[in-house]
Amino acid sequence: MIERINDYLKEVEAFSSTSSQEIEAFRVSFAGKKGILNDLFASFREVPAEEKKAYGQQLNKLKEAVAEKIKELQSQTQSSAGINKISDPTRTAFPIQSGNRHPLSVVKNRIVDIFTQIGFSISEGPEIEDDWHNFTALNLPEHHPARDMQDTFFIQTDPDILLRTHTSSVQVRHMETHQPPIRTISPGRVFRNEAISSRAHCIFHQVEGLYIAKDVSFADLKQTLKYFTEALFGNSKIRLRPSYFPFTEPSAEVDIYWGLETEIDYRITKGTGWLEIMGCGMVDPNVLKNCGIDPEVYSGFAFGMGIERIAMLLYQVSDIRLFFENDVRFLKQFKPTL
Ligand code: DAH
Repeated sequence: MIERINDYLKEVEAFSSTSSQEIEAFRVSFAGKKGILNDLFASFREVPAEEKKAYGQQLNKLKEAVAEKIKELQSQTQSSAGINKISDPTRTAFPIQSGNRHPLSVVKNRIVDIFTQIGFSISEGPEIEDDWHNFTALNLPEHHPARDMQDTFFIQTDPDILLRTHTSSVQVRHMETHQPPIRTISPGRVFRNEAISSRAHCIFHQVEGLYIAKDVSFADLKQTLKYFTEALFGNSKIRLRPSYFPFTEPSAEVDIYWGLETEIDYRITKGTGWLEIMGCGMVDPNVLKNCGIDPEVYSGFAFGMGIERIAMLLYQVSDIRLFFENDVRFLKQFKPTL
């Protein structure tokens, strides 16, 4: 019986071919399911006890020789066909740089998620706005000095068409087309005609929030903001400082307690431990009236924040321009989850 194996061994050693069909036929005849090797292994039972050891050893040798031969011939035919030894010839020649989300999109999505979880809808408005939606309806009539708070890019005058200076314009559009109860947030791009410096930028992003229903109070505003800051920063210690916005009365600026543990905390909070993160207030009755909502029946709150500012705080980025330069070395540091 061992003789038979030795004959096969010689046959295997002598075999050579460059045709992949022939190699495949060789593989099937020896290593296939009904091939010679399986046959020989099955005959192991019939081998007399004293020959079993030698038979087994020789059979394993044959098995290895077959595997070796197939490998050798296959790699030869592949390289001669110019495919070389890459196991997946469809692989691209260069490593793929998979992109990830821009940090501003990551932060925007996170803010949107936090508010949609408590029933806020998402609304959007145009970036090119008219005077009514950007200013007048928001209690900023013509020649109102507060218009100077936001330097404006005008596209056309008489009638004035401009690039919206804030997402508060979407509040107006939403109230004009929806009846309370209203809960909506409006993320979007805004434009200001500001001198370029490391702190100011002509294009940036805001998220506006609006809640209008019966009996909405300042306490509701504060509780909503506490929920938000806890969800985003993991810190709900906030304070509201009296402020002024034409479209809210009373108005406030929201500070979050950042701490004074490190040198950086000290620097960015100017030694106070507090950081301003947004503006807010109770929607001015004039604004409700301008948008067709009866201020005798309904009240509400609004807030607005800059996405760049929030992203700078979350990621400790010191220069806003980094968000717009699109340098991959900067962008690839941000993980899609936050
Ligand atoms: N629109 C303001 C700005 O661009 C931000 C803001 C402040 C929005 C107070 C509001 C608000 O809705 O209530 O600076």
